[in-house]
Amino acid sequence: MEGKTILTGIRVNSEMTLGNFLGALLPMTRLSNKYSKNNQINIFIPDLHTIISDIDGELQKNLVKEIKYYLAAGLELNKNVHIYRQSYVPAHSELCWILNCVATMGETSRMIQYKEKSHNGDASTNVGIFDYPILMAADILLYGATYVPVGEDQFQHIELTRNIAERFNHKFGETFILPAKTVEQVKFMEVSNGSESEKAAGIRIRDLQNPEKKMSKSAEAENSKIMMSDEPARVTKKIMSAQTDSLGKIAFDMINQPGISNLLQIEALVTGTPLQDVISTWAGETHYGDLKKKVAASVSGYLEDFQKRVSEISDEEVYKILEDGEKYANEVAKKKLLEVQKAVKLR
Ligand code: TRP
Repeated sequence: MEGKTILTGIRVNSEMTLGNFLGALLPMTRLSNKYSKNNQINIFIPDLHTIISDIDGELQKNLVKEIKYYLAAGLELNKNVHIYRQSYVPAHSELCWILNCVATMGETSRMIQYKEKSHNGDASTNVGIFDYPILMAADILLYGATYVPVGEDQFQHIELTRNIAERFNHKFGETFILPAKTVEQVKFMEVSNGSESEKAAGIRIRDLQNPEKKMSKSAEAENSKIMMSDEPARVTKKIMSAQTDSLGKIAFDMINQPGISNLLQIEALVTGTPLQDVISTWAGETHYGDLKKKVAASVSGYLEDFQKRVSEISDEEVYKILEDGEKYANEVAKKKLLEVQKAVKLR
């Protein structure tokens, strides 16, 4: 693949679970490293999207930390990798307004995320929640992005982006490159996501106490989740108390042994070993405690190294990366915005 733009907006959290890290941040890092030689990679902080909900006084601190996490995870920077803050590139907001005048109430009110967040259109909902996907369309269309790696909950927004872009092109002449259809997005993410076996399993780290569920930051029980900032003793305690089953054999079987399978998956990812190899190593073993000890040691060691790398990156370094990214983003986005303004006769 060559000459494409791959773009994603990353939600900034105050804290990140090992599940978020292994399931989203690390795959995006690998994807970037794999494609950045011949393609443009745009990773941006959608800070304007963030303020539709609680205004978080920690946003600046957290976004710096998030970028350090990418770097500590091994994100390789080169002239094709651009990291920027949405609000530092005014063209996003400006294009959003123009697209507001092309998108319809009908298609926008059909968005599942809008319905959920607005409790089916409750009158006290802020307009930002409604307009969210249109700003997202602007984020994507300004850069002519083809691939937009996101979670499933965002697929509907990508389809909406395609529809708006298509309508715009039809009404005002070819202006926008359409992002790939959802099915192609899924294929692209699968191909970029490591080994065959990992693909088959789907990288979704489970809740340690309820392994039928995804590991979630909002889980009540502390022992359900591993945070990227956890100390070794804490990690060990959590993994040793992970829920398993009473089958007494170590095998990868998400249906009947989700707890054990989750541990095998975590072991594979933090040691960088193909899942199949981890499964073979443990095949025939029966002591769950041994597996837990091994996984606890692997995760603790991994987090210790990771935290050390994070602590070695300075805030200044991060701001320099952002400023470079914003310079690039403004150049590209301004050019596209002017094209759009001309198309709708504002210029
Ligand atoms: N809405 C995305 C999310 O919640 C974040 C986002 C904003 C985004 N703009 C984007 C993702 C543009 C991809 C492209 O995860």
